[in-house]
Amino acid sequence: MPDRPLLLPLLDAALERRGRLEPADVESAAREARLPLAQAWEAVNFYPRYSEQKGKVRFLLVDDPVARARDWRELNNELEAAGRASGHEVATVFSQGLEALSPALVVADGADWRVFAPIRMADLRALALGKLPPQELQALPERLAGNQGWLFEDTEPPDFPGAAALIEAARSADLRGLGGAFYPVWRKLAAVRVQPEKEKYVIVNGDESEPGNFKDRWLMEHNPRLVWAGAALAARAVGATEVFFYVRGEYTAALARVEAAREELEASGYFEELATHTFRGGGLYICGEESALLESIEGRRAEPRLKPPYPAEAGLFGKPTLVNNAEALAHLALLAAHGAAAYKRRKPKLFSISGDVERPGVYELSLGTPLKSALESAGADTNRLAAVLLGGAAGTFLKIPDALDLPLDLSTPQLSGDSLGPGALVAFERGRDLWSVVEGITAFFASESCGKCFPCSLGAPHLHAAALRRERGPILDELFLTLEAGSLCGLGQAAPWALRSLLQRFEEVGS
Ligand SMILES: Cc1cc2nc3c(=O)[nH]c(=O)nc-3n(C[C@H](O)[C@H](O)[C@H](O)COP(=O)(O)O)c2cc1C
Ligand code: SF4
Repeated sequence: MPDRPLLLPLLDAALERRGRLEPADVESAAREARLPLAQAWEAVNFYPRYSEQKGKVRFLLVDDPVARARDWRELNNELEAAGRASGHEVATVFSQGLEALSPALVVADGADWRVFAPIRMADLRALALGKLPPQELQALPERLAGNQGWLFEDTEPPDFPGAAALIEAARSADLRGLGGAFYPVWRKLAAVRVQPEKEKYVIVNGDESEPGNFKDRWLMEHNPRLVWAGAALAARAVGATEVFFYVRGEYTAALARVEAAREELEASGYFEELATHTFRGGGLYICGEESALLESIEGRRAEPRLKPPYPAEAGLFGKPTLVNNAEALAHLALLAAHGAAAYKRRKPKLFSISGDVERPGVYELSLGTPLKSALESAGADTNRLAAVLLGGAAGTFLKIPDALDLPLDLSTPQLSGDSLGPGALVAFERGRDLWSVVEGITAFFASESCGKCFPCSLGAPHLHAAALRRERGPILDELFLTLEAGSLCGLGQAAPWALRSLLQRFEEVGS
């Protein structure tokens, strides 16, 4: 452990004990974490779950691109009726990694959430009579693994091949980061390895909160050992002493399974001297931005840091830190297990495929697979499709059939913003309401903007207002540019891409 306890776990323990936070809990957590009281209050006010109170039941309809494109308005109306009839508050909550089972409902009792998916209109009607929907969900069901693949195999964790060999394997296999930016993994490993400090950290980024994506959720719930193995190998390669596995705060099943896998590997001696921690994320999209994530572990508001310095030089507690996506670290374990040559032949990548396909789920496909084959592997009838949201909320709409031959790899995008991102494909048949999808996406960015820089904190709400007005025309270009070029981090930079691609590629969508 670092030399001071960590604020968020202390607050979580108090919240769990009492069902709500009292000022005395915040004071005692601040004292124990050796942080100024004002900083502890800042954190409490920043992270939403610390304002929750047990005994206050709310019905939350999950706002994700799949639900948005379908009968979103009707679902909302029905939910409001249920709220009026039962006296419970109703609201919406952004994507919970449930697009493959959408639409979904959360019944929240303070910070304790029960998730139901998929729900039908009749379930919402029954809710008004005090009956909960029958399909309660703890974790993503096994059947959502759409095919077979290395990433679905829970095999024995591989031996450490040595730092030089592992870094060379990552280089020769061209293993990239898989949180969306595709930075070469070997470069980060090498950059942290050469730092002279004794204390170094490895962070597994399992914060996955971008609507449309659920492949990390799958991995954390169903194969967390593979991710831990990759993290431990990375830690040995860079000379790190500690690993933090940062799991999205709302993914409670993933948290439990990641922790169980940690305990198992710890007991087996796999971690040797390495200290390992499962860390519950703050519950906001911005927590996944790597430097904001570090701030949240340190007990501050999750606001991105100015870079440089990059985490590889000065990361957690100012020490050299390797931050990689959960799937990327799982790939490092695959590389150690199978060797670079076999890995390169296969080029595995997880995709979250949802929307208008017969078998939505998580698929392992080879990088370079054409979009059409990827959609067909999930049972899509591509003749009926009009659009695919590529990457997720921070992605772009591709027009179908124009884009069907597009290889799903890291190649040059056609429009700025065209990118695999973390690997989401959301398919929409003709007649789906793409404007409603964009309304949801822009609402997401406006709500999740952390407020640190003006282009995003002011621009994202304007963008959402423009989407609600279904606005078009050159005036929007300035707003797009302000967000894309002026925002401090990827959240604001990517916010306009979905709307802009809709306007550029779908002239026919109604205004
Ligand atoms: C707003 C925002 C949210 C992000 N969320 C995640 C996330 O949940 N998981 C993730 O791996 N990367 C996320 N990233 C990217 C990280 O900042 C970082 O690039 C990544 O963790 C590095 O790992 P990789 O090289 O394996 O992709 C996010 C970036 C931004 C701007
Ligand atoms: S771009 Fe948005 S999320 Fe990122 S630092 Fe600025 S205000 Fe915060």
